[in-house]
Amino acid sequence: MNSSAVNKPATLSSSETGARVERLPLSRFTTLGVGGEAEVWTVGNHAQLREAMSAPYRILGGGSNLVVADEGLMERVIRLGGEFAATDLELDPQLSTPEQLITGWVGGGVPLPGLLRKLQRLGYGNLEGTVGIPAQLGGAIWMNAGTRFGEAFDGLHSLEIASPEGTRTVTPLDLPWSYRDSGIPRNHIVTRARLKLRPSTPELVQEKMDAADTARKGQPKNRTPGCAFKNPTLPGGERLGAGKLIDEARLKGSRVGNAMIAPEHANFIVNLGGASAADVHALLALIRSRVGVHLELEYELWP
Ligand code: FAD
Ligand code: EPU
Repeated sequence: MNSSAVNKPATLSSSETGARVERLPLSRFTTLGVGGEAEVWTVGNHAQLREAMSAPYRILGGGSNLVVADEGLMERVIRLGGEFAATDLELDPQLSTPEQLITGWVGGGVPLPGLLRKLQRLGYGNLEGTVGIPAQLGGAIWMNAGTRFGEAFDGLHSLEIASPEGTRTVTPLDLPWSYRDSGIPRNHIVTRARLKLRPSTPELVQEKMDAADTARKGQPKNRTPGCAFKNPTLPGGERLGAGKLIDEARLKGSRVGNAMIAPEHANFIVNLGGASAADVHALLALIRSRVGVHLELEYELWP
């Protein structure tokens, strides 16, 4: 495809509901620091969100699991702000019990690290295992982000999900969720969630967060979208480490352009500065050609 056609649409849309519409490089919003331009719609309420969803779209969270094409995107990219970035951690007296605390609504656009800091200060447990994941709450729920210490669905009571067909509330029981997968249909947007928490103390919550944090000490510090591949499960049920498999294929330190398979942990591809999406795609293809086990991508490749 001619990249100039993607980068320069004939007319730029504007919003009737007051959503902010800007043409921006998505490299600004991805932890990898890669991605061409798109029309970015920042929405703060349901009317703006409905308008944004009236043409083909993608929903952007913290950009921490994305490799966005260098040519940019044809679709609009929706970002959650306003009421979708608000946090209500007041306990709902109707739903909470002494053993199970249910909060008010927390927006899908709320950054997970700040939310976890608040939960730690309140001494509320259940989400400690997701510490260190640079997601927004909605993005963490969308892919059930986690570590071996816990995952996003450990702390969910219910979710509000919006799509062009309307808005509905579901509970985890309504979804076929599993490891790194919420079962939520693509482009259905997690606008907010109620958290299901366990009463604990700030000290105990911190202790659990420290354990999860220690497990990622060997991960690289450069710009990256996290692990490239999910850990594969063999037909017999045994789970292998994707990083270990790539390491055993002696691929650590392999480089294409300014992207590199991290010497610290082989399941991370890092941007050494100025890498392109094409560089990352070439390294993913190299890994797949050299590892004998089928590896399922954990990242999202846009488009
Ligand atoms: P994005 O990257 O913006 O988007 C990813 C997908 O989620 C896209 O399909 C997007 O459309 C969808 N999405 C985003 N927001 C919403 C929403 N509100 N509603 C519906 N869909 C939405 N992951 C782990 O699981 N465990 C880890 O330990 C971990 N460590 C990481 C460490 C680093 C340094 C980095 C950079 C990444 C790490 N990741 C980890 C990967 C990443 O943080 C997770 O995949 C995270 O869930 C992505 O969330 P996000 O908000 O950044 O989503
Ligand atoms: N290993 C190697 N070589 C490597 C990397 C790992 O031999 O290059 C070995 C380690 O020595 C260890 C084993 O593989 O014995 C597992 O490694 P690690 O503890 O780093 O865990 P992981 O399975 O590779 C998972 C998640 C991470 C999460 C960490 C910590 C997946 C795909 N990855 O990594 O999540 O942060 O555990 O809990 O499930 C992510 O999903 O993006 C992510 C970063």
